[in-house]
Amino acid sequence: MEMQSMIVVLTVLLVVGTGADYVRPLPRKTLHFPWSPKHSSHPQQVHISLAGDKHMRITWITIDKSSPSFVEYGTSPQSYNFIAEGESTSYSYFLYKSGKIHHTVIGPLEDDTVYFYRCGGNGPEFQFKTPPSQFPVTFAVAGDLGQTGWTKSTIDHIEQCKYDVYVLPGDLSYADYMQRKWDTFGELVQPLASTRPWMVTQGNHEKEEIPILKDGFVSYNSRWKMPFEESGSSSNLYYSFEVAGVHVVMLGSYTDYDEYSDQYSWLKADLSKVDRERTPWLVVVFHVPWYNSNYAHQGEGDDMTASMEPLLYAAGVDVVFAGHVHAYERSGRVYNGKTDTCGPIHITIGDGGNREGLAHEYLEPQPEWSIFREASFGHGELRIVNSTHAFWSWHRNDDDEPIRSDQVWITSLVGSRCLAERSHE
Ligand SMILES: [Fe+2]
Repeated sequence: MEMQSMIVVLTVLLVVGTGADYVRPLPRKTLHFPWSPKHSSHPQQVHISLAGDKHMRITWITIDKSSPSFVEYGTSPQSYNFIAEGESTSYSYFLYKSGKIHHTVIGPLEDDTVYFYRCGGNGPEFQFKTPPSQFPVTFAVAGDLGQTGWTKSTIDHIEQCKYDVYVLPGDLSYADYMQRKWDTFGELVQPLASTRPWMVTQGNHEKEEIPILKDGFVSYNSRWKMPFEESGSSSNLYYSFEVAGVHVVMLGSYTDYDEYSDQYSWLKADLSKVDRERTPWLVVVFHVPWYNSNYAHQGEGDDMTASMEPLLYAAGVDVVFAGHVHAYERSGRVYNGKTDTCGPIHITIGDGGNREGLAHEYLEPQPEWSIFREASFGHGELRIVNSTHAFWSWHRNDDDEPIRSDQVWITSLVGSRCLAERSHE
């Protein structure tokens, strides 16, 4: 290609998918972490996750294999009225040997309360706040994080917002078989992940499968244990949880989802138990988007859509979050490829800041269900105000400032004809 026509093509690519007045920042480098030796029983990579009603799972890693798995905790600093004993695991991946990975469930805990805690009787005191039991409740959302300069920018912005739970629709560390990078990711996110529950589901970068030699998700399942047992699931790759008046279903894009699969049966059973009086909002999260007008990963979610979209529609799901595509896109309510006032809103938010960069190219013309799309890094905030209204905002990492670039009020399907009609079917 001649230089002139190449410049024209590049210019067109840069303009597509964003406002002409917005100059998109360049990708940022992968962060490098200096080696900081710690005492072998010092708790590292501390993160917390919801573990059933009024309980929290505390996860940390020690180099010392004899380090105990108990957590001391209480509502005043340095004063631990409670202690809980947990479990531990470890794994090896060729030459790499993980530290001792501790998982300890604590509770019952008071709602909307700050707790102080210490892991294994060692190291510094951490603190977290439990989510409220009633509205309002706020979720921070960003997928495809990685560990670059933009990741840092995204998590700094999430730290600035007032949120109760962080939801990550897959692709965490981008370790991609380099197991040490799971450790550096754990350290990078600890300041946030030790203070608010991180609820994650798997992406393709968590798989790390090597046929015959290594099963998939060994590292992910060992390090990021989610409340699957607490929600009646047999796999860490799909589960559900409830917070305030919201039922959140976390699905797996990289495990079986056809109608004969365990995930499908579990999803059907889980949705049938949802009580919209108790949890008026129904949210579903997975990695590969079902509604995506970006060229990147086009059509990859089609099989899962064909299998599971009717279940979500019948249950009256309000919002679906996905990642995978490194950009942001929000649909209107949609079902079966067409605008449908009884379908969920689909939000693709794989824009956390990973090293692979942004997905710039969009299908033209923009499909009628697609409301807003932009290839920038950022994060989202879903503030559920009451049983019927929520405010969604997307914040672009613009020159390191979290600029609110898209926002919309969302009305839940509770009380709508959509659910009323279905209950009579
Ligand atoms: Fe992905």
